[in-house]
Amino acid sequence: MQLTIEEQAMLVGEQGPAVRKAMEILLALGTIYGAQKMTPVASVQIAGVSYDNLGEAGLHFLDSMLQGGAKARVLATLNPAGMDVENWQALGISPEFAERQMRVIDTFASMGVAPTCTCTPYLSGNTPHFGEHIAWAESSAVCYANSVIGARSNREGGPSALAAALTGRTPLYGYHLDEQRQPDIQVEVSQSPVGAHEFGALGKVIGEKMGDLQGVTIPYIRGVGQASVEELKSLCASLATYGGAALFHLEGITPEAGLAARPSKSVTITRQELEQSMASLSDEAAEIDFISLGCPHLSIREIQHLAELLRGKQVRKEFWITTSRAVKSIADRAGYSQVIETSGAKFAVDTCCVVAPIRGRFETLLTDSAKACYYAYSKNKFKTVFKSFDEVVQEALR
Ligand code: F3S
Repeated sequence: MQLTIEEQAMLVGEQGPAVRKAMEILLALGTIYGAQKMTPVASVQIAGVSYDNLGEAGLHFLDSMLQGGAKARVLATLNPAGMDVENWQALGISPEFAERQMRVIDTFASMGVAPTCTCTPYLSGNTPHFGEHIAWAESSAVCYANSVIGARSNREGGPSALAAALTGRTPLYGYHLDEQRQPDIQVEVSQSPVGAHEFGALGKVIGEKMGDLQGVTIPYIRGVGQASVEELKSLCASLATYGGAALFHLEGITPEAGLAARPSKSVTITRQELEQSMASLSDEAAEIDFISLGCPHLSIREIQHLAELLRGKQVRKEFWITTSRAVKSIADRAGYSQVIETSGAKFAVDTCCVVAPIRGRFETLLTDSAKACYYAYSKNKFKTVFKSFDEVVQEALR
């Protein structure tokens, strides 16, 4: 790879051991993927924040980087942690876990990383513009940034995202290049989905078809009439989870769809397949003992709607509302938080039902998120029931 004089200086340690390590990581990555050079990045989203995933070894790595002079040189934000940093006791998190989780967050903060703890950075102040190079490591957010915004990011891992934050660089390959952003399969949707849960189910069907076909990575989707931000964030989370997709084009909606060449390979998604996909996420015989909304983290519009549904009512099951601290503070000001908390539902800010350490505490999760269903089973061994947002709330009130 061709490095600039400044990048070479980073590589030989002139800016300290942490920057040297970071540049070594990026150089290795770029060499593997055939990058010719680095590109500056405007922002970074760092995943691997929950102590439940990171463990002591991960914390030790972060600490050694901090001791080596690590300092973010571009806007860098954090993915959800394993707990609500203010309200962890109410969610049943142990003091030992809380202490370790705070060490992780404090270490990132000492590096100059903004402790946003959300998977929707684009709703919380880390919002790139069209064509901007970024290095993000939350799969649903990468898919949203590439597809809906038209920014450019590969799916970074925790260490490579941190390395990008410390150097302000990422290797120029993959989704950073025009030629790597062309679709390779056309997907005809016979009936437009409605609601975030149906968009999530659509992402599951498309993602699984991509897996069956092999070698296809970027769908060009037709037949979806309109889509809200909330529906798109759900589609992004599912496509990334079930198909490993980091980019899609949605005809008439996403910014690069008009620039894309039509692929010759094509599949059709019927309404029946969508229904089957939704049914496959539900174990109807299961006894629901845990309910969660907010995967990906809820927008202020969703919280406003939730407050309308819960006003003057009482929930009867453990019900977590997951969102970012930024959105929660708006909900506080608007009075939505008080309505929601009075109903007995609990805010689980900074975290979510997947990254919190809750394995063994519940049997069955009810949610409107296809991504949450996938990880509830694969990570926590929960059964799942999948319904629309409004149906989830109705169930919580029964
Ligand atoms: Fe976000 Fe957790 Fe879902 S990180 S996308 S709420 S699994």
